[in-house]
Amino acid sequence: MFVSSNLSINEKGNLAIGGVDTVDLAKQYGTPLYVFDEDLIRTHCRQFKNSMDKYYGGEGLVCYASKAFCCKEMLRIVNDENCGADVVSIGELYTAMSVNFPAEKICYHGNNKTPEELELALDYGVGRIVVDNEIELELLNKIAGEKGKKVNVLLRITPGIDAHTHDFIKTGKIDSKFGMTIEFGTAMNGVKKALSLENIVLEGIHCHIGSQIFQIDPFEHAGEVMLTFISDVKKECGYELKTMNLGGGFGIMYTEEDSPVAYDLYMKKVSDVVKAKAQELGVNLPYIIIEPGRSVVAPAGITLYTVGGIKDIPTARKYVSVDGGMTDNIRYALYQSKYDFIIANKANQPKDDNVTIAGRCCESGDLLGENVPLQKAEVSDILAVCATGAYNYSMSNNYNRVRKPAVVMVKDGNSRVVVRRETVEDIIRCDI
Ligand code: LLP
Repeated sequence: MFVSSNLSINEKGNLAIGGVDTVDLAKQYGTPLYVFDEDLIRTHCRQFKNSMDKYYGGEGLVCYASKAFCCKEMLRIVNDENCGADVVSIGELYTAMSVNFPAEKICYHGNNKTPEELELALDYGVGRIVVDNEIELELLNKIAGEKGKKVNVLLRITPGIDAHTHDFIKTGKIDSKFGMTIEFGTAMNGVKKALSLENIVLEGIHCHIGSQIFQIDPFEHAGEVMLTFISDVKKECGYELKTMNLGGGFGIMYTEEDSPVAYDLYMKKVSDVVKAKAQELGVNLPYIIIEPGRSVVAPAGITLYTVGGIKDIPTARKYVSVDGGMTDNIRYALYQSKYDFIIANKANQPKDDNVTIAGRCCESGDLLGENVPLQKAEVSDILAVCATGAYNYSMSNNYNRVRKPAVVMVKDGNSRVVVRRETVEDIIRCDI
């Protein structure tokens, strides 16, 4: 009935997350409000970790992609679950540093890292820097030299895999701003360059083939392509790359149309392929890293809004406006992403209306969904949007100088604020 296993209807007929009444949460903390279920986040971390231990056989690391949802408490939880973190900006790195996230378990990504970012990454001793291109290799070598350090590097490879997903979130195909292609020899040249630079220690390779992927075969294919490249490097350079990072991208259920694959099945299938291929090619089983983001955190989160204006336009449609919108969830405006909507205080009633959910920004495209089934909405109802834990808070913005919502975490029937709501003072804090 619900897209996430942590949602239920309580005795009052209200929607509950992790057993906590969402209508009470809206009253206590105000709306819009992001709510996360801590146990489900932990469960997902464990599922990935346990399946890696169970099926891979070799060593590995689950590195949570913090771009999906990054705040201090999230990184504390991830560390507590013995996962690493993938960061992609000085802000994400600084968040990790602020909770003493173990530097050796951090992967630093990005297709255009600044010298300032690389310097901070080196100062903190980040375990792996995923280098995107040769220019960055040289820059990193120079900065490491100035600091008298050697730096551990993975090279970002574009394996040429076209996973079936939304065009904007495909990153492993050849036409990509990320990484070095195998096809044109760019990746091999990158390896040779890295091996020639005295402050670079080339540990391995990385790829990320896209996001919200439901098929297993693109991941299996990526594993094969990456291992073949490891073998080619061994033949051509006499150097064996130790680590293979296969990125993230595992799909989740936003609506009933989505059919995600069980996380441990990914790990099993990919492990089988990688082990067989390593044997076939005569290379050692690499240290494996995966970087799930969405799959760890999206199903664990919901967003709560208060319904305001309702406008039924004859011959057009019915708009239900809420007190948030593209500032806290830009995914419909960007990707036409679909969500499951529920009126939290009418969760046990049938969804016999069909509406467009509008945000509050001065922008006609500020919608959260169109043509969505919903219970009959009335002013002051609490609207819940499910599976908003990933790429919602992290992509939130202050358009129209709207304040970002608070983030609340529920656990064992209790709730706590982990990111406070922005104030109007926050809105002008950088203004001179
Ligand atoms: N590793 C790398 C290098 C990545 O670029 C990404 C996501 C991940 C891991 C995590 O992928 P995930 O497991 O979350 O699919 N804003 C878009 C998603 C962009 C994903 C970018 N990279 C959205 O809202 O759907």
